[in-house]
Amino acid sequence: MFFECLNLRKSFTTRNGPILALRDVTFRAEREEFLCIVGPSGCGKTTLLKVLAGLLEPSGGRVSFNGAVPDSSLRAALVFQEHGLFPWMTLLDNVAFGLEMRKVPKRERRARAREFLGKVGLDAFARNYPHELSVGMRQRANIARAFLADPQILLMDEPLGALDAQTKVVLQEELLRIWKEHRKLVVYITHDIREAVLLGDRVLVMSGHPGRIREQLDVPLSRPRNLTDAADPAVNELVQHIWQMLREEVRNALWVK
Ligand SMILES: Nc1ncnc2c1ncn2[C@@H]1O[C@H](COP(=O)(O)OP(=O)(O)O)[C@@H](O)[C@H]1O
Ligand SMILES: [Mg+2]
Repeated sequence: MFFECLNLRKSFTTRNGPILALRDVTFRAEREEFLCIVGPSGCGKTTLLKVLAGLLEPSGGRVSFNGAVPDSSLRAALVFQEHGLFPWMTLLDNVAFGLEMRKVPKRERRARAREFLGKVGLDAFARNYPHELSVGMRQRANIARAFLADPQILLMDEPLGALDAQTKVVLQEELLRIWKEHRKLVVYITHDIREAVLLGDRVLVMSGHPGRIREQLDVPLSRPRNLTDAADPAVNELVQHIWQMLREEVRNALWVK
């Protein structure tokens, strides 16, 4: 099982003329791989994720799954930075929702949702509504829901981007733990270079205007990962390497209006 993008291109028409948001994006992701895509703000990450998810039509090139155009049988789950949960549903029903779409009977759905809430430490909040919880708790529920839906590909767009540094570390660990237990192909988008290195098997580095992939890097860390990996010299080396590639672009973005 593999997932592939070939020469993807996406342009948008705006009042100021066309914008080329993606150009020649080509990569392949393998079954059970944790693939991180890192790049500065505005480089086209979300656009890429939406094209992968089928939410946006590419202007050129194609996405393929096992060598064929993905059809309705491809199960993809999406996790965004926020707004993933339905405000009118309890946490339990939110997490169970993916199974409801797949016509799993209610009793089974709820039992499995409870189990997955447990995996992210939210058993006690099953009957709460999203607005009663912190952002970190809501993202935990989003992650539980995505894994419970048992997708073939899990697409995440800066899922931990709105969290404080400590909460982020805890959720990164939780995410890797649940992924280890329920291996999926994950495409994880972030602007945080260190996060990409700590989570991914590979890191694709994007730069913008037009959005393209600059480099594909293997992460030289074994699994399972843990907190002490953050101090590994190989991590710092890779982070520095990526930062050198992107710093000019980030700097320019601050000055040029
Ligand atoms: N619907 C749209 N219409 C016009 N331009 C868009 C649209 N979506 C994104 N863009 C532009 O495409 C570029 C990439 O945006 P985006 O994919 O959101 O970047 P990122 O997620 O990396 O911050 C930006 O220049 C953005 O302004
Ligand atoms: Mg984005």
